[in-house]
Amino acid sequence: MKIAVLAGDGIGPEVTAEAVRVLEACNLSVITLTHADVGGAAYRNHGHPLPEATLEAARAADAVLFGAVGDPACDALERHLRPEQAILGLRRELGLFANLRPARIFPGLEHLSPLKPEIARQVDTLIVRELTGDVYFGDKGVRETAEGAREGWDMMAYSAPEIRRIARVAFTTAQGASGALTSVDKANVLETSQVWRDEVSAMAADYPEVTLSHMYVDNAAMQIISNPAQFSVMVTGNLFGDILSDLASAAVGSIGLLPSASLGERQTDYGTFGLYEPIHGSAPDIAGRGIANPMATILSAAMMLRHSLGRALEADRIEAAVAKALADGVLGRDLGGEHGTRAIGDAVIERLSP
Ligand code: IPM
Ligand code: MG
Repeated sequence: MKIAVLAGDGIGPEVTAEAVRVLEACNLSVITLTHADVGGAAYRNHGHPLPEATLEAARAADAVLFGAVGDPACDALERHLRPEQAILGLRRELGLFANLRPARIFPGLEHLSPLKPEIARQVDTLIVRELTGDVYFGDKGVRETAEGAREGWDMMAYSAPEIRRIARVAFTTAQGASGALTSVDKANVLETSQVWRDEVSAMAADYPEVTLSHMYVDNAAMQIISNPAQFSVMVTGNLFGDILSDLASAAVGSIGLLPSASLGERQTDYGTFGLYEPIHGSAPDIAGRGIANPMATILSAAMMLRHSLGRALEADRIEAAVAKALADGVLGRDLGGEHGTRAIGDAVIERLSP
């Protein structure tokens, strides 16, 4: 099994190092790792945030373990050279259209959520975010209005095939879970969303076991923190999914706990090719100090074992070890604790079941 490790910027290298240590502690001798530069680090070394060699390393692997990209030193660069373009380019070039972002409260850790414990207890949602379309990848530019004012514009569009392939992932996932699927859009205002809603609705007939409902994104934001119990699987577009997944992560207690899987259509010998990353960013303000919480990346590695490498048992072991560490009070600073990056990695490894 070949894993490409793209650690990236800021806290990326620190948190991926711990995830790799946890993987190694699982004693999967069949795993080989390759490392490649990405983001601001790649720009500095190779003049581009996503060098061809990095893309090749990702393509040659069965899965990609990704840290984070984003570097304030690169903010003044032209947009196509900024670190964020690396992750957007990887998603596009690798065809990773389906982003799974589970947000589940860890039992006993309700007090870590800013929500009241009785509400926090209900948070158990999988956000299925479309990842290669929407306003993220539409034409964009800066132009001048008739009055001579500077005007930025971004094109939002979703085609029926793009909607159907992400909806299929969501329906299939909901079928295997509680059977409830909420599709989130803004169909009261956007044509893009009306087509989205029509296509998702039309597909419901193929999945009679799934109960489909629709919700406007503004309402969904409110409902996630006021009545999260109603959500099991949610499906939404790229931009709304970006926003709602940060919201859901805060409901869990910290963005430092949320993993993600980005999947496409390509099958490997062991599962579906995918890229795995924590949903948090590069956190330049705390980078290099050994205080970042690596749990989201460790949990991303668990998702990688499950979806891309056919190792569900090891995935379960890692997830159980993280839950146990949290229950034992192994908390990073993001959760009001004192544990550093390495100490959290050690604590998870110690708790891996034999
Ligand atoms: C995420 C991030 C990215 C996104 C950024 C870094 C481009 O916020 O994965 O949620 O907007 O998708
Ligand atoms: Mg985001």
